[in-house]
Amino acid sequence: MSESPLILYGGSFDPVHNGHLRIASYAYRRLKGDVLFLPAKSPRWKSASASSKDRFMMLQLAVASQEHPFFVSEMELEREGEVTYSIDTVKAIKEEEKERPLILLIGADQALRFHEWKEAKLLSRLAKIVVVPRPEQELATSNIENFKMEVLPYYGSGSVSSTKIREGKCLDLPEEVLIYMEAHELYFWGKVRQYYSNSRYEHSLSVAHLARQIAEYNRLDESLQLACYRAGVLHDIGKEMTQEKSVSLMKEIAPSYISLPSYAYHQYIGEYLAKKEFQEDDERVLSAIATHCTGSKGMGCVAKILYSADKIDPGRGWDSRIYIKECLKDYEKGFRKILAANREYLGKLEEEENALSKACYEEYLTKGDYNE
Ligand SMILES: [Fe+2]
Ligand SMILES: [Fe+2]
Repeated sequence: MSESPLILYGGSFDPVHNGHLRIASYAYRRLKGDVLFLPAKSPRWKSASASSKDRFMMLQLAVASQEHPFFVSEMELEREGEVTYSIDTVKAIKEEEKERPLILLIGADQALRFHEWKEAKLLSRLAKIVVVPRPEQELATSNIENFKMEVLPYYGSGSVSSTKIREGKCLDLPEEVLIYMEAHELYFWGKVRQYYSNSRYEHSLSVAHLARQIAEYNRLDESLQLACYRAGVLHDIGKEMTQEKSVSLMKEIAPSYISLPSYAYHQYIGEYLAKKEFQEDDERVLSAIATHCTGSKGMGCVAKILYSADKIDPGRGWDSRIYIKECLKDYEKGFRKILAANREYLGKLEEEENALSKACYEEYLTKGDYNE
C-alpha cells in the first residue's frame, strides 16, 4: 500500500482564520493526507503585516485547536533571500519524503498565473497541484489542463478574509488566535491599544468578550455578536483625555450634552473617535458607545448588552456573578436588573440624576418585570 499523501498548504496566513482551516479540513478528508501549513515570508513592503514569528505562532495555536493531523513548517520563513519559490520548498520536502506523494494546494488566483512560476513543469511533476476555487474567481482552464491540476469541489470557506480580521471586522477564527492578537497588540488591537492604559485595555477586552458571550448565549446572530465585541473593545477610547481637551471637544461634537456630569463625556468622545479613527460605521456599535455610561431611552440590543457588560465586568472587583448568569439567560431581564441596581447605588451616593439616565429608568424600570 502506498503512503498517504502530504498536502502542502502555503500562504501568508496574516493571520490564519477559520476559512483556511475549513479548506484544510476538507482537503484532509477528500485527499486523505496530512496537511502541512507553510507560512510564507512577508514581503518587506507590506507594513501592515504581522511578523513571521507572530504569524507562525498563530498558526501553531490554530492547528493545536483542530482534531485533524495538521502541522506547521518554518521552512519558508527561515529561507535566505527576499523571495522564496515553491519549487525550492517542494524539492526540499521531496528530499525528506522520498516515497510520499506530495500535493500542493494553490488558490484559483494563483492557478491563473501558474505557468509563470519558476520551473512550473517540474513543480507539477514533483507535486500534484490542487486548486481551491473561489466563487468569484474564474478558473484557469488552460493551466488546469497543461499542468494536470485537480480542482477541489469546495466552496464552503465562507466570507471571512485576513483583511477583515486585521480590521477587527470579522471573528471567524479560533478563539486562541483572537486572544493572541489581543495580547500581542496586532493589527486593529495595536491601534486600539494606543487609546488605553494597561488596565483600561484589559477592562475593554474583558467587556468585549463578556458582551459577545451574552449575545451568543442569547442566540443573537453573528453580526450582532461582532457588534457587541467591537462596542466592548472601543467603548472607553474617549476616556483618557485631559479634562480641558474633553470639554473643548464636547463643545464641538456634542454641545447639547455639555451640561451632563463630566464623567459622561467620554461616551460621546468615544463614539466620535470610533467613527473618525476606526471607521466604525455600524450604527448599533456607535449608539451603544454613546449610551454606555448614562443609558438612555430607546436602547437597542447592542446598547443594552454593552451597558450591562460594562457594569458587571468580572474585573471590576465586586461579585457580579448573579447578574452575569441572568444576562447569559436573558439579556433584557439582566439589563433591567443591572439598571435597577445601578439606580439604587447612585441614589445612595446621592448623586444627581441626569436627564438621560432618568429617561432610561422611566422606560425600562416602570413597566418591567425586573423584580421577578
Ligand atoms: Fe465608560
Ligand atoms: Fe468601561
